[in-house]
Amino acid sequence: MHNTTVENSPTAAKLPTREILDIQLYPTKSEAVNASATAIASIVRANPYAVITYATGNTQIPIYTKLAELVSNKEIDFSQTTAFHLDEYYPCGPDSPFGFVHYLKNLVFEPFHISTIHTLNGLAKDAGEEAKRYNNLLTKHQPDLAILGIGPGGHIGFNEPGSHLDSVTRLVKLSKETVDRDHRERKQNTPTQALTQGISNILSAKKIILNAFGEEKGKYLKEALYGKISPLCPASFLRLVSEKVTIFGDLALGI
Ligand code: GLP
Repeated sequence: MHNTTVENSPTAAKLPTREILDIQLYPTKSEAVNASATAIASIVRANPYAVITYATGNTQIPIYTKLAELVSNKEIDFSQTTAFHLDEYYPCGPDSPFGFVHYLKNLVFEPFHISTIHTLNGLAKDAGEEAKRYNNLLTKHQPDLAILGIGPGGHIGFNEPGSHLDSVTRLVKLSKETVDRDHRERKQNTPTQALTQGISNILSAKKIILNAFGEEKGKYLKEALYGKISPLCPASFLRLVSEKVTIFGDLALGI
């Protein structure tokens, strides 16, 4: 395992200490997946009532699969934890095969036997009210852990470039890059809006684990780690809470 920090970057000299992040890079994706799953499992072992925010996306699939294996082998118990989901297309129903509630139901909520689940209603008539409801819940139940991926433009959740540090759960317009990616992957039209936890909701978690594999994610991460801390790259805000962030990745990231 290669343990690195942003100190090693060419711009390191300019970075204050608070920006030193824990970046754990492994030669292969599968080793990084195991390490990330182990880290998540140890948080739940230490706190069986942990409140956890779950990202979706292809990146997380092997990690959730590994954790589901641990659950079925009775090596870990998520049954008393509370789950929040990070973001959802709008409009999008809970049974839509492309929706994130559907994804989490199949990969997390059911296999992990979690009984307390909070999801965003992608069919809410009033998206603003739905966002407010979800935001209140997040304020009442501070997440112990947020599991994140990173997407086009350095987005976290669906906080696209332009998202502010103090943003809360809200309806957002997806960037062209995100919409194009989703159209490509799904081979059909996808919504152009989404409900997402805001940057301030995400940063309020006591621990943040970001998983990223491969060259393309490396591009987004480089910008987030070594570029300016700015709404133009929402993941760059993670550097403001660097003491609680761990990034698990493979060497292919090239960061
Ligand atoms: C999606 C989600 C994010 C996710 C990211 C990466 O659009 N909104 O929560 O982390 O983009 O997805 P993937 O892992 O499929 O590349």
